[in-house]
Amino acid sequence: MTSLLVTGGAGFIGANFVRHTISHHPEYDRITVLDKLTYAGNPANLAGLEVDLVKGDICDTELVDDLVGTHDVTVHFAAESHNDNSLADPSPFVHTNINGTFTLLEAVRRHGTRFHHISTDEVFGDLELDDPNRFTETTRYNPSSPYSATKAGSDHLVHAWIRSFGIRATMSNCSNNYGPYQHIEKFIPRQITNILAGLAPKLYGTGEQVRDWIHVDDHNAAVHLILDRGRIGETYIIGADNDHINNKHVISLICELMGRAPDAYEHVNDRPGHDMRYAMDSTKLRRELGWRPRYTDVDSGMREGLEQTIAWYRDNESWWREAKAGVEATYARQGQ
Ligand code: NAD
Ligand code: TYD
Repeated sequence: MTSLLVTGGAGFIGANFVRHTISHHPEYDRITVLDKLTYAGNPANLAGLEVDLVKGDICDTELVDDLVGTHDVTVHFAAESHNDNSLADPSPFVHTNINGTFTLLEAVRRHGTRFHHISTDEVFGDLELDDPNRFTETTRYNPSSPYSATKAGSDHLVHAWIRSFGIRATMSNCSNNYGPYQHIEKFIPRQITNILAGLAPKLYGTGEQVRDWIHVDDHNAAVHLILDRGRIGETYIIGADNDHINNKHVISLICELMGRAPDAYEHVNDRPGHDMRYAMDSTKLRRELGWRPRYTDVDSGMREGLEQTIAWYRDNESWWREAKAGVEATYARQGQ
């Protein structure tokens, strides 16, 4: 039996990971979540689960040392994760993404426990719309925003701790996730809750940007495969081959699935430094570990994933309703 520490487990992907673990991986007999419960962390995401939730900062050396030392495996999701926020104030991003990852790595070095670091495709920067290439495990890092730069910094720390200190770690870089429990500041839940709240969906700029959307369950299934059978020291790219779908297409599909005209959205100010296109080549993960996403192409898989996500936000209005006005007021100040 194995004990598991999940940092950031009260956030979107971390909470889905805890749920996925409880329903598919009984070998993890004790699960602890370490989460600062920032605006993005919500204890309700773990309601009803047999999990110890420790409220704390991953930069707290003593607390982190104690928790890492008493669990066999640490999976590290905790981060400041929203690009738009990183443009308004980068400092929490440096604190959590860089100092927090450093603090965890030092604890893992002391205790010799297994570590998995969760990262993003955004560390690679972006591709032009007509560039046929995809990001691979060897693509050069080229981050654009304070969010992606601090995630890149955290990845470099993990690489260095593997090489210099031989820690037992793996890493994964995944594309944009969607699914239940995602904060309503993010693209897909913002549009769904806009429609549910009687507001117009909001598209940045022309909406030509491409994100390689993946359902959160497909991401988390890949993380478990890496934990079970991934090679120590290796990085795995996770992506579901949705790199031909632009934001305009996604927003139209949400409108259509929610019974609106496909063009029933507003164009708002673009994001400064907006990355154009992300695309992931997950060949290594598929070949080595046999991973396959369940929700892939936009006409069937992603449509099904979006329908499920829309139903979740419709059925769980109490989860998002209170935060909605504040999130929209912040966006309104930015002309978005
Ligand atoms: P999220 O913002 O929903 O959740 C982050 C969680 O971390 C929150 O619960 C928050 O309270 C917690 N946290 C923040 N600072 C902390 C600190 N100092 N100490 C302890 N806890 C802290 O983010 P998410 O979308 O679930 O992303 C999780 C991870 O996955 C991040 O590392 C992110 O970079 C990565 N990732 C996200 C996506 C995506 O599309 N959302 C894609 C690829 C990778
Ligand atoms: P987001 O969910 O913030 O993720 P990321 O910045 O990590 O890609 O945004 C996804 C895409 O959607 C991005 O190209 C910006 C765009 N976007 C909108 O068009 N409208 C919105 O209201 C938001 C929040 C994002």
